[in-house]
Amino acid sequence: MKAIVLIGMSGVGKTVKGKKLAKKLNFDFVDTDELIIEKNKMSIEDIFIRFGEEYFRKEEKEVFKRALTKKNCVISTGGGIILDKDNITLMRSEAVVFFLYDTLDNICNNLKNSHIKRPLLNTKGDLFSQLSNMSILREKLYINACHFKIDLTNKNDETIFNEIIDNY
Ligand code: S3P
Repeated sequence: MKAIVLIGMSGVGKTVKGKKLAKKLNFDFVDTDELIIEKNKMSIEDIFIRFGEEYFRKEEKEVFKRALTKKNCVISTGGGIILDKDNITLMRSEAVVFFLYDTLDNICNNLKNSHIKRPLLNTKGDLFSQLSNMSILREKLYINACHFKIDLTNKNDETIFNEIIDNY
């Protein structure tokens, strides 16, 4: 079976949901950020600080390409995976792509409760307007990249996973 790729805004829950979904399907699970951290032996924050975003995007592209060769696998991605056109072309041809959507209010709350530092977002500043600006730039890319959009708003995991599995 083709890989399942989860895309969507930073903080929407791609990693948490992806792990649970993989368990439910008895699939492997990989997360592009985690692969980059393992490869570089450094946090995402430190990679941005030491080498910059361009380096991070190159690493992201490389680990993603390799992850896509796997079958029976759920791949959670970083929110910016769709900024690279090749990533979009590849995910659409090699996998089934689900865009996880939620309201910016819910995403804001998730991010405020997360211990992971996102270098492109300042959680101490006005997070809602930062996310809003980001989603204006990215929403169309998520829509174009995905095969299916899954609205997480007011749904429990069971409903969300059934929706994904039904469309897979
Ligand atoms: C990014 C999102 C992050 C991580 C990096 C860049 C982005 O992943 O890949 O900080 O450009 O939106 P999450 O989507 O898991 O936060």
